[in-house]
Amino acid sequence: MRLQPQFLSRLIRCGLYFIYPTYAWVTAVICMTLVALCEPMVPALLQPLLDKGFQQDGFPVWLVPVALIGLFGVRGMGMFIGQVAVTKATQTGLLTLRMQMFQRLQDASLNLFRQQNASALGNTLVFEVQIGAQTLVGSIIGTVRDSLTLFALIVYLLYLNWKLSLIVALLIPSVAWLMKVLSKRLYKLTQNTQEATDHLSYAVEETALAHKEIRLHDAQDMQIERFRQRGLSMVRLALKTTVANAGITPLTQLLSAVALSAVISIALLQSHENNMSVGGFAAFVTGMLMLVNPIKHLSEVAGPLTRGLAALERSLDLIHEVPVESGGQFRSDRAKGLIQLHNVSVRYQVDLPLALDGVDLTIEPGQMVALVGSSGSGKTTFANLLPRFVSGYEGEIRLDGISILDWQLTDLRRQIAMVSQTVVVLNDSLAANVALGQIPDREKVMECLLAANLGDYLQSLPQGIDTWVGHNAVSMSGGQRQRLAIARAMYKNAPILILDEATSALDNESERVVQDALQKLQQGRTTLVIAHRLSTIEKADLIVVMDAGRVIEKGTHQSLLNADGVYANMFRLGQSGQSTDMVL
Ligand SMILES: Nc1ncnc2c1ncn2[C@@H]1O[C@H](COP(=O)(O)OP(=O)(O)OP(=O)(O)O)[C@@H](O)[C@H]1O
Ligand SMILES: [Mg+2]
Repeated sequence: MRLQPQFLSRLIRCGLYFIYPTYAWVTAVICMTLVALCEPMVPALLQPLLDKGFQQDGFPVWLVPVALIGLFGVRGMGMFIGQVAVTKATQTGLLTLRMQMFQRLQDASLNLFRQQNASALGNTLVFEVQIGAQTLVGSIIGTVRDSLTLFALIVYLLYLNWKLSLIVALLIPSVAWLMKVLSKRLYKLTQNTQEATDHLSYAVEETALAHKEIRLHDAQDMQIERFRQRGLSMVRLALKTTVANAGITPLTQLLSAVALSAVISIALLQSHENNMSVGGFAAFVTGMLMLVNPIKHLSEVAGPLTRGLAALERSLDLIHEVPVESGGQFRSDRAKGLIQLHNVSVRYQVDLPLALDGVDLTIEPGQMVALVGSSGSGKTTFANLLPRFVSGYEGEIRLDGISILDWQLTDLRRQIAMVSQTVVVLNDSLAANVALGQIPDREKVMECLLAANLGDYLQSLPQGIDTWVGHNAVSMSGGQRQRLAIARAMYKNAPILILDEATSALDNESERVVQDALQKLQQGRTTLVIAHRLSTIEKADLIVVMDAGRVIEKGTHQSLLNADGVYANMFRLGQSGQSTDMVL
């Protein structure tokens, strides 16, 4: 088989993940060689049996079972140990690859999660890498084993009759050419199939995610149709793949048949000229027929080889092509909390308007700043800037006088506790969720839960803080989840606190209690609050009013009322509606 150099280097790139443990490979190679050597032994045993066994008296009959059972015993043993060794090596490599991929998910630039949905990532990490590794290793092992067998058989045939054996050589380039043509097409088809699989599993993910919305809006039929369309494209791709794949076998078999018939005819003719023994002829034809299987396997290997490679390369792309979040060098255990923004603008996409537009703001350590503004005015974007969840911005953002780009990422994020609009809970115990990332200190967890007004909820749980909260805590109410996030922020005890609508899911009564806790939490910390409730906003040291990404007013509650601008207007509207919320 002739391999393109590019193909070989791609193969090596994938193969490097699978070289350990070396002893497993050594065992596998020894076993495979043993198995390959056993192949020509069958015709080799046939020759003396036919030549001597049926002609001469005194042939020791007991030799037949001993030789046959011995041969197949050794061959079977070699196959068995070889397979176990290969599995050991494959699985070890698979784990290495998966670990590296998962580690990359932890430090990848956040754009990755905008470009790829959870099911696509899941597919790559869980299924594709496994199928890819198994197919690739399987086909490489098969190729090596069949090549060895082929080699051993050819050597034996050459030994028996070298002239005849030369015809076999014609088979090899023709098969190689066929493989080259078809493997290109198969590779492309495999890539398309991967994408189609992603789309199919995304439809499932979406149905699980939005099952209530889908039923409420009677969108089942629409979803089913979408699923059907995606399923149909997989059917089309599978058919195309089979057409390309299934063509290989009959074509190569035809080639083998041509070569075989030529060889057998010539052998028959030759046997009249040079007196080849019956045993010798039978051994040659048997050896010849035994060539068909390895040749067939070798000609079919293009399919799984390219499929496996394409699947593994997608995993490797995740490791090598996905950019890593980059941080600076500056380290600090605990920041003072001085936040300065100078002319900061954010644009999420080129064709979208600015989400933040030239924002200038200084937040002194320990100050509480309230951000108010209509929906979509850029408040969450502002909050996400500080922990660098927004990748690109213009202008300058400093924490303690150091640009946040120069802070080491882990240290920067350690300074910030955040309760965001959407609370995400991990499928772990309540304690682990509160202490997220640290080994839970049980007493501290209890303290935080109580302070976040989750005491009643805690009492209703059979296993207390060790209760498993389940997939995204579906068993918790929106308000409970929000309080869990508050407890988490308390546990983190960071110098900067960002509350993005932290109490929006709470009723008035619980909010009051949580507010108390939050106020305690805010003491001595720099706090950024995004809120609609007047009670929260009023107390702020500085109120920043935003509109369409710009800061349009800032000052204290009183000074803004005196200025009689947008804020004063919102305040009056809110009051006339007898509501505790601002009208925004
Ligand atoms: N990941 C994103 N990609 C593209 N555009 C975004 C993204 N996130 C937000 N935006 C856009 O940026 C603008 C500001 O959004 P942002 O979430 O900051 O508003 P907000 O003030 O927090 O609104 P709300 O009060 O509804 O939470 C909006 O126009 C929004 O559509
Ligand atoms: Mg928001």
